[in-house]
Amino acid sequence: MAQTPPPHRSGAVVPDLPLEAVPNHVAVVMDGNGRWARQRGLPRTEGHRAGEEALVEVVAGAIEAKVRWLSVYAFSTENWKRSPSEVRFLMGYSRRVLRQRRDLFNSWNVRIGWAGQRQRLWPSVIKELDDAAHLTRGNTGLNLTLCVNYGGRDDIVAAARAVLGEAARQFSPASGKSQTRGASPGDAAALVETMMASLTEDSISQRVATPDVDLFWRTSGEQRLSNFLIWQAAYAELVFSDKLWPDVDRRDLWDGIVQYSSRQRRYGA
Ligand code: IPE
Ligand code: IPE
Ligand code: MG
Repeated sequence: MAQTPPPHRSGAVVPDLPLEAVPNHVAVVMDGNGRWARQRGLPRTEGHRAGEEALVEVVAGAIEAKVRWLSVYAFSTENWKRSPSEVRFLMGYSRRVLRQRRDLFNSWNVRIGWAGQRQRLWPSVIKELDDAAHLTRGNTGLNLTLCVNYGGRDDIVAAARAVLGEAARQFSPASGKSQTRGASPGDAAALVETMMASLTEDSISQRVATPDVDLFWRTSGEQRLSNFLIWQAAYAELVFSDKLWPDVDRRDLWDGIVQYSSRQRRYGA
């Protein structure tokens, strides 16, 4: 039986908004851990540690607000540029948070997924991600996508390759004899045409890691995308808050949702 998250300790309740005013998909850049730690004279890693509670809070707040998809940026394909010790910490930390929080999220009917590259990612982290996805695969509540070793450009390239590969595999040359006498120039031209035709905005949208983003929320005052869900965020509403990630709780997500609900989305019309 799915449980509802406990209410926020302040007693704050989710803003009363009509369902159509709530974003279907919220993307979160959980930023500012290092600065939070520096302000306290602590090592950067203490900021990451302090951010765990904020993640749990925002998941609870998303469930209460009836958000359907929540994608959180935990480690980017560019974050390998950080010091080896910070990278090592972040890998071990992701593994530990996954293991320690998956049962809680599972009890909240959350379906956990992973978006990101396998390349370079620690196999033990991949295993925790796979285990959490397996454990929660039957859940019907919030879809929580953990973006670990994720890059938006990589997501687009991988989607395009998948579309092209599928088109090529399904291609059957008109001559039907290419196996025995080798493909004719006509077959090659037809293959190229089939592959080109397969690549459309819709086919890529279907293959990237998540649905389109409605609300793109970044903490810590930085106002940039940093390669997060760049295809999916083409028409997202952007909300930036100054709070550093470890200081965030579900009320900050709700503030973002309220801002979102007052925006007029025009999609060029
Ligand atoms: C975000 O906080 C967490 C990760 C990128 C893993 P940062 O580590 O980027 O913190 P700042 O931006 O340096 O304060
Ligand atoms: C984006 O934040 C990545 C995550 C929050 C995981 P960064 O702190 O790495 O981004 P930049 O370097 O400020 O663009
Ligand atoms: Mg940062």
